[in-house]
Amino acid sequence: MAQKLQKLELTWIGKGNEPRHEPRILIEDPSKSCGDLHTGNMLIQGDNLLALKALEQNYSGKIKCIAIDPPYNTGSAFEHYDDGKEHSIWLELMSSRLKVLHRLLSDDGSIWIAIDDNEAHYLKILLDEIFGRSNFVASVIWEKAYSERMDAKGFSTSHDYILVYRKTDKQKVNQLLKEQNERQFTFFDEKMGKYYRRRSLRKEGSESLRSDRPSMWYEIEAPDGTKIFPYKPDGAEGRWRWNKENVITNKESLEFILKEKNRWEIYVKQYLEEEATRPPNTLWKQEEVGHNHEAKEEVKAFNKTDIFATPKPERLIQKILSIATKENDIVLDSFLGSGTTAAVAQKMKRKWIGIEVGEHAITHCLPRLQKVVSGEDKGGITESVNWQGGGGFKFYTLAPSLIQKDNYGSEIINPTLNPNMLATK
Ligand SMILES: C[S@@+](CC[C@H](N)C(=O)[O-])C[C@H]1O[C@@H](n2cnc3c(N)ncnc32)[C@H](O)[C@@H]1O
Repeated sequence: MAQKLQKLELTWIGKGNEPRHEPRILIEDPSKSCGDLHTGNMLIQGDNLLALKALEQNYSGKIKCIAIDPPYNTGSAFEHYDDGKEHSIWLELMSSRLKVLHRLLSDDGSIWIAIDDNEAHYLKILLDEIFGRSNFVASVIWEKAYSERMDAKGFSTSHDYILVYRKTDKQKVNQLLKEQNERQFTFFDEKMGKYYRRRSLRKEGSESLRSDRPSMWYEIEAPDGTKIFPYKPDGAEGRWRWNKENVITNKESLEFILKEKNRWEIYVKQYLEEEATRPPNTLWKQEEVGHNHEAKEEVKAFNKTDIFATPKPERLIQKILSIATKENDIVLDSFLGSGTTAAVAQKMKRKWIGIEVGEHAITHCLPRLQKVVSGEDKGGITESVNWQGGGGFKFYTLAPSLIQKDNYGSEIINPTLNPNMLATK
């Protein structure tokens, strides 16, 4: 007798009995569309399950990065949305959306989900089930607060997670420029148009003098035979640890060194090196990617009176998009909130689709993205990426239900939908 296949899985009330949803179409509201209307960028107001399903026909397998920040199920009732669902309902809500998101992702794409301890570990298992355990990429710890909450009962939680999964093993993690991770160790050489690693000479002190420890001191030799010791600003020689990388092989490099020799730090071999990059790590400190307070300050610029309670900082999304995408890739956020992912994608020259069910699609996302397009938004990452404005997007809502019941209880096509709408893909 064939044995019943057993598998380890998370289950919840209602699992496997999900309601079927009638397909819906997206209708543009031209009065809210903005700037260049041919970019393909979409701001959609509506429930994300219906909107994602409406996107499937044109976007399946085309989205490079999904960055979402769903309600964490903390039990709070925020002004703009409810964040306290029964556990099974939350799992069902996430499960149905993740299945569509999985279909939308390209083979080399990845999904990034912000979450905290309320549901993180259940969500991980859900993701294992939908994406496959072998497609787990990372669990990033994001330091979301810069200080302890003095009113905390017990621990003051200072981190959230960002769970990262890929669609297939075709996904590549972009290396980060050293500058992004380790600004102080990197410099940009205008002349060579590249980033290089900065190598600091050791701390001063009597034991650092060449006369004290001659074996630690080496001249740097150029191909033409010229030799130099680097100098510190006070005129004393700096120490240079020898390794084969420290060879200068062209005159240009030598001139640079001679020019720089009175500085405490000297930059050498890196002229021959590719951009100084390194793999991203999984601990994201607030100094580098921002914290919750920074994010709230950012959104105040778009709506001073009606502050959105749970935005993410632009620098955090910038880091995600740097690792997961390149220019012109499509980024999707189906829990758009105040519009951060779309704003950052636009400033980083990615294409984007944002979905938000609440009224804040109009009161927060719309004005924010209009200002990004017009170049009036000076906040967030604008300055660091030298964003001057440009691009545009179309604004969409979900069309009413296709099927209605007539007076006799029979199902009919909704008479308010015109032929053009019905022909919309
Ligand atoms: C934590 S917030 C996202 C904040 C966002 N990352 C930002 O930077 O502003 C979660 C958002 O998901 C939205 N949301 C919840 N359920 C949704 C649904 N079914 N469809 C679309 N949006 C939904 C909520 O209205 C809320 O704005």
